[in-house]
Amino acid sequence: MRLADPLGAVPSVIPTVGSKELVALLPTMLGLRGAGTVLIPEVAYPTYEVGGVLAGLGVRRTDTPPEDAAGVVLVWLNSPGNPHGRVLTDDELRAWVAWGRAHGVPVVADECYATLGWDVEPRSILHPEVAGEDHGGLLAVHSLSKQSTAAGYRAGLLSGDPALVRQVWEVRRHLGLLVPTPVQSAMAAALADDAHVDEQRERYRARRDRLAAAVRAAGARIDHSEAGLYLWVTRDEDCWTTIDWLAARGIVAAPGSFYGPAGGRHVRMALTATDERISAAVERLAG
Ligand SMILES: Cc1ncc(COP(=O)(O)O)c(C=O)c1O
Repeated sequence: MRLADPLGAVPSVIPTVGSKELVALLPTMLGLRGAGTVLIPEVAYPTYEVGGVLAGLGVRRTDTPPEDAAGVVLVWLNSPGNPHGRVLTDDELRAWVAWGRAHGVPVVADECYATLGWDVEPRSILHPEVAGEDHGGLLAVHSLSKQSTAAGYRAGLLSGDPALVRQVWEVRRHLGLLVPTPVQSAMAAALADDAHVDEQRERYRARRDRLAAAVRAAGARIDHSEAGLYLWVTRDEDCWTTIDWLAARGIVAAPGSFYGPAGGRHVRMALTATDERISAAVERLAG
């Protein structure tokens, strides 16, 4: 789709109304409606699938580049991942970049938990060690919701391949998907300040350390969770049995099956509860 361009500017990064609407609308805004398949992670934030379905596309779950690229029109990666906190290695990211470029398929990385690495330092798909000299065929999605606890501001960012960013930007301004000036000013202030991001990360780290120790002491296992805002917990049983076990202690978690069939034996415990609520959960797990 080509639309009139009275402004002529070519931004390589644009603000979005939080990242969720971008995730849900990206296939549509890239003009992919109607035919083809979107690849999403095996266990994934549900909005990648929503966006594919909304655009009338097929959706296929995979954590590795498939041998058969026929019909694939878009790839979603999410590192660090929701719900499991998995971080893709440089080699895994490079494999997707190479695959996308070989087949002419855009690869989009949702990196909204990028600042929340615990056991590893998450790498952006746009990093030169991964992308090489240019960002051709690649997009990165970021959000201030997690790093600045600013979900209510609806403050997201899209960057990467200038041609793809440009295409999205052209459609967005004709849809009125524009970020209000006061929110853009707040974003600029937040992005210029690392101190509050560090402070918030340490708050999450303290919650994570305490909750993880309590979960393990209660006999459950934590998989992945090397970054991000969640513990990916299993007792090697159906997730609903674990949900019942937690509910009996007054603890609410998300069943892993919400995020795809491969999540059916895990639950997602969030570190977004207050310190006081985390303390209560720790006590109840011990009791
Ligand atoms: C992986 C992932 N992407 C995107 C979002 C959307 O965040 P926001 O719209 O607040 O930027 C979330 C929210 O939980 C998420 O977990």
